Amino acid sequence: MENKLENSQFESPLRYPGGKSCIFPFMSKLFYENNLIGTNYAEPYAGGSGLALKLLYNEFVDKIFINDLDNSIYTFWKVVLNQNLRFCDWIEDLDINVENWTYYKQVLQSTNIMNSEFELAKAVFFLNRTNISGVIQGGIIGGKNQTGKYKIDARFNKNDLIKRIRRIELFRRRIFVSNLDGINFIKKINKKQEDFFIYLDPPYFQKGADLYMNFYSKKDHKKLAKNVDLINKKWLISYDNHEFILNLYPAHKKVIYRLSQSASNRIGDEILIFSDKVKFKNSTTKLNNALII
Ligand SMILES: C[S@@+](CC[C@H](N)C(=O)[O-])C[C@H]1O[C@@H](n2cnc3c(N)ncnc32)[C@H](O)[C@@H]1O
Repeated sequence: MENKLENSQFESPLRYPGGKSCIFPFMSKLFYENNLIGTNYAEPYAGGSGLALKLLYNEFVDKIFINDLDNSIYTFWKVVLNQNLRFCDWIEDLDINVENWTYYKQVLQSTNIMNSEFELAKAVFFLNRTNISGVIQGGIIGGKNQTGKYKIDARFNKNDLIKRIRRIELFRRRIFVSNLDGINFIKKINKKQEDFFIYLDPPYFQKGADLYMNFYSKKDHKKLAKNVDLINKKWLISYDNHEFILNLYPAHKKVIYRLSQSASNRIGDEILIFSDKVKFKNSTTKLNNALII
């Protein structure tokens, strides 16, 4: 069964194609290399937040600030933080079938303002776990007639998912969620007095399949680069490796590496771009085929 592949190495209850929890060995070493243990940690483009949760659970960071402009993703995190037990009770009693899939698809598509945040969070989670690659707008695992090799519940190991969500509850006082545009979020974090490390994983330059909210034009990537230059905290950005992006950060050190994810929709290399204040030579040994440029 496909669900055997799902195990506790994943901290996030959400599936995110190209998610960055796999660079945890690198990131944790980077924290040692830069004396960052115990800092606060902010992700302006958090998505599935797998890396942030891993850093928190392993006590590398004090608090995590996870931000995403996608209202449905934000609402999911908000509900998991504020109505955790109720959400787990719902999962416990849930039937994973095509009828429910059709219902939650409608919830997500409807503009009905009567839909509560709880209902929206349920829809996001249900579709994320039952659609191919976790793509909310995508097709159902196994197809509508369920004739495919894998069935709709292949990625819905209830016990494991409930465990992941209950764990978030244990750390809830150290998790802060927001729904700002990434650049506004950076400005807000930049004004804070406390120590912060900011990890940015913005929408890809070259779009893959319609993975998630991805409206970043060349102008937006340029604007982000200008704002990143104004950050006075330590930061790191990851991107797909593209000439246009490399040219946006001419003065910064970069590493090309290969994201270890066979199922990634991103084919090819990735880049990391470092703020001047970040040392990374020892940490890059934890990346696949790392090349400092
Ligand atoms: C590359 S994904 C991040 C994946 C994440 N690092 C993970 O491991 O799951 C980019 C995220 O940025 C969000 N996003 C898109 N445009 C945004 C914007 N203008 N401000 C903030 N978030 C945005 C998307 O909803 C998506 O979740």
